[in-house]
Amino acid sequence: MHHSPIASPRLLAASQQASHTAAQWVRTLREQDDNSLIEAFLAEYGLSSDEGVALMCLAEAMLRVPDAPTIDALIKDKIAPSRWAKHLGQSGSHLVNASTWALMLTGRVLDDDSVVPLLSRLAQRLGEPLIRVAVQQAMAQMGAQFVLGEDIQQAIARCSSAYRYSFDMLGEAAMTAADADGYLQAYHAAIAEIATHCNGSITDNPGISIKLSALHPRYETLQRQRVMDELVPRVLALAQAAKAGHMGLNIDAEEAERLELSQAVIEAVLSHPSLADWEGFGIVVQAYGQRAEAMIDWFDALAERLQRRVMLRLVKGAYWDREIKRAQVEGLPHYPVYTSKSDTDQAYLRCAEKLLSRRERIYPQFATHNAHTLACVMELAGDNQGFELQRLHGMGEALHAMVAQHSAMPCRVYAPVGTHRDLLAYLVRRLLENGANSSFVHQIVDAHIAPEDVAANPFTHTAGHTPRRSLPAPSELYAPERRNSRGWDLYEPSGWIAFDQARAPWKTTTWQASALLALPSESRQAAPVFNPAQPDELVGHLTMASLDQVALAKQGAQPWGASVDERAQVLRRAAELYEAQHGELFALLTREAGKTALDSVSELREAVDFLRYYAARAPYLAHPARGVFTCISPWNFPLAIFIGQIAAALAAGNTVLAKPAEQTSLVGYEAVKLM
Ligand code: FAD
Ligand code: 2OP
Repeated sequence: MHHSPIASPRLLAASQQASHTAAQWVRTLREQDDNSLIEAFLAEYGLSSDEGVALMCLAEAMLRVPDAPTIDALIKDKIAPSRWAKHLGQSGSHLVNASTWALMLTGRVLDDDSVVPLLSRLAQRLGEPLIRVAVQQAMAQMGAQFVLGEDIQQAIARCSSAYRYSFDMLGEAAMTAADADGYLQAYHAAIAEIATHCNGSITDNPGISIKLSALHPRYETLQRQRVMDELVPRVLALAQAAKAGHMGLNIDAEEAERLELSQAVIEAVLSHPSLADWEGFGIVVQAYGQRAEAMIDWFDALAERLQRRVMLRLVKGAYWDREIKRAQVEGLPHYPVYTSKSDTDQAYLRCAEKLLSRRERIYPQFATHNAHTLACVMELAGDNQGFELQRLHGMGEALHAMVAQHSAMPCRVYAPVGTHRDLLAYLVRRLLENGANSSFVHQIVDAHIAPEDVAANPFTHTAGHTPRRSLPAPSELYAPERRNSRGWDLYEPSGWIAFDQARAPWKTTTWQASALLALPSESRQAAPVFNPAQPDELVGHLTMASLDQVALAKQGAQPWGASVDERAQVLRRAAELYEAQHGELFALLTREAGKTALDSVSELREAVDFLRYYAARAPYLAHPARGVFTCISPWNFPLAIFIGQIAAALAAGNTVLAKPAEQTSLVGYEAVKLM
């Protein structure tokens, strides 16, 4: 259970006042009624309806499906089962209504009940290609809404003099060195072009935002040395170019598992003497992260030590869904982000207060589209000096225009530049962010929500339209049926150290394995087993059973005969033993199977989950025991697939003859011994 730290009396008062101001802003914005296409679209199709979810899936997939027949199949799959007619004419936007028609027709084509027979026949005659083109256009328009230009020249030509800009060359999570090189070149070219438009102060000038994951194909904690050797010089070169061009360079914040690594890169780059006297280096802090306030203190201390003035963009964070899902899938002990929206809103404002008090060293950049957050920042600042506001291109335009009118606050637009090919990940984040019920953008266009609720004070308001729903802890993901298997977060130094220390006692062990049969043993030759990743490293010795022994064992096998409860208990107990013996199993998996650390963790976790899963399902298995099962498993999942089959057969009351792959018999032997 998380308890937010108390806010200062000053912050509480500012937040209360901001709530009144922002409610007024919401009223004014609603009267203007010039919502962007995306806002109108998402108001009608949020993530709370099946249709909205279908659309998000379609948008997510459509841009990367190369051929028409597959797109048509996708449309059939995603669009057909939804009930579009109920959205018809609901939106104030013609384009949204037109899209609804298109989607409804699509649905009808595939829906046999012909409520609109004429249209249906028409659509059938015109066929899916027409619908494909219509839907593709709608998706392309949505994409275009978020991108300022296909290249930097086009983007600069479209800039408005009312705003400052930070250009983002679309691209992230490079998978190959060639992609990373391409993005690096794009950033260099963009900086060169932007520099020709830099003729004011560094805060007035346009700047650049970069993503570290675009610049290295293995930007991950377990590749730390490579990242420090190869990525740091690239980022440094970009920073030097930005300094020479007299502009700001901002390092976007990405997934929480890269946070610690990003700090190492940031520190290495910023410490470089060639960047002295440049005040344009900036980082992003995500308020939804449990470490947000600590990040600000860390960056402030670093800047103080280096005697640099720096920039810091405060955001709430764009990867929330992913962070939650990863923690659940990996069975981590905690979520790295807050699980309630008001906790994030509160954290944002505490960070804002901290930043505003450090303006002599840090230039704060408050990035938000939320009226209350914005009003509270202004209230806390008390003036409009030494900081700026930011918004994303295609979002929050009306709100920021209104604030600018009243306060003469400078506002910078984060402007993605690029083509469809690189848009997908960014677009999906925007759709998820805007489609969520709790998001400000979603609430402002929903007339059923009173302005006072849209602008509610997060320190007092916990009910209303964004009820606090607490998420189950990752370990409780499958509760009450079964506990999630224990995870090791190898992306965090502490998780990696725990893993490595656990297997250390078995670094040079040699295991001995032979058939585990209730038969007199034979004297057979033991064969040496070597580590496939280190071919001269001896891992153990293996004595195989003879064919005669196998035949004997099969003949003598009896049904297990245990009660359902006992079977389930045995499987659960085995799961516990596997988790308790993780050190030895990790050592075996890495040494005998040549598995990577990450794969060893998934392997053990899958085995443990199979055991718990079949234990839980044992009472519901429809079939009576069949007799003796022979389970033969492959070497590539020597524990998980081995145990999965065995556990399934045992849960149903069968007897099992288990045969591991000969390449991974030591793992199989230890696994069966534990059972
Ligand atoms: P709001 O609707 O008030 O807040 C929505 C946000 O609340 C969500 O995005 C999420 O962070 C949080 N939230 C939602 N539900 C929950 C929940 N159940 N529990 C906890 N928190 C929740 N993001 C990055 O990650 N890295 C960047 O580098 C980055 N750069 C940006 C630059 C600019 C100029 C801008 C404007 C945004 C940037 N963002 C970045 C995106 C930013 O994180 C989102 O746009 C922002 O979170 C939306 O917040 P809001 O205040 O506008 O809207
Ligand atoms: C994102 O890419 C804007 O950095 C933010 O979602």
